Amino acid sequence: MHCDATCPIGIFDSGVGGLTVARAVMDRLPNERIVYFGDTARVPYGVKSPDTVARYAAQITRFLLAKNVKLLVVACNTMAAVALPAIASMSPVPVIEVISAGAKSALAVSKSRRIGIIATPSTVASRAYEKALELYGGPDVHAVSKACPLFVPLVEEGWLDHPATRMVAEEYLRPMLAEDLDTLILGCTHYPLLAPLLAQVVGPQVRLQDSATAMATRAAAVLAELNLARNDGPPRHIFHVTDMPLRFREIGERFLGRPMEDVRLEKM
Ligand code: DGL
Repeated sequence: MHCDATCPIGIFDSGVGGLTVARAVMDRLPNERIVYFGDTARVPYGVKSPDTVARYAAQITRFLLAKNVKLLVVACNTMAAVALPAIASMSPVPVIEVISAGAKSALAVSKSRRIGIIATPSTVASRAYEKALELYGGPDVHAVSKACPLFVPLVEEGWLDHPATRMVAEEYLRPMLAEDLDTLILGCTHYPLLAPLLAQVVGPQVRLQDSATAMATRAAAVLAELNLARNDGPPRHIFHVTDMPLRFREIGERFLGRPMEDVRLEKM
């Protein structure tokens, strides 16, 4: 396998949510071609066992490597939390993922070092964010996490500013607010779309931090280091999904903030 600057970046997720990361990468690296994989037939991953998620992640990694990608971007927090060793062990190209990016950017903005994490049940159970915060921030970081499984379906329904979503958010976040946090990590691909509503629920003293921009910055740095940045545009992006390509396109354009021209169905 030989990669040069013209090869695409592979971005993958359990479904549509990783498009929040794809969007940040497109904004930061407008000349790069993206091959996106969303496992829409098997989403959600956030309530599945680590073994199952690791098996699915290995299949997707194989698929993207066969597309000759020069960089793998694990946009899905759940896969990054429970399947990173499996992905990294298969990949001859660099792998970057959302959890260390999110933890580092939270540490960069938190003054009190009292940091909350909201994520899927699998990500929370893995304690991956707590471990990353301790690794990069030391043992005095106070981390509190909360699984918010209802947020993913609410976002997919488009209920970004709906009274039901607000009620759910208040229910999930009320106990965390008592912890006197100054930063809240949005540890799931879907949550950045809820940022305006969550900001109202947590109030101005808590800063919301998502990983998408940090991932795009990291992708740019890795490509520059390896001399693999593509300089001529415009790029053509391809989106592979395992089910319901029309629904993916409809919801996905909301996540991506631009039209998706090439959506393909892949049987796995
Ligand atoms: N992509 C997943 C994540 O970031 C959310 C959706 C799912 O549960 O598959 O954790």
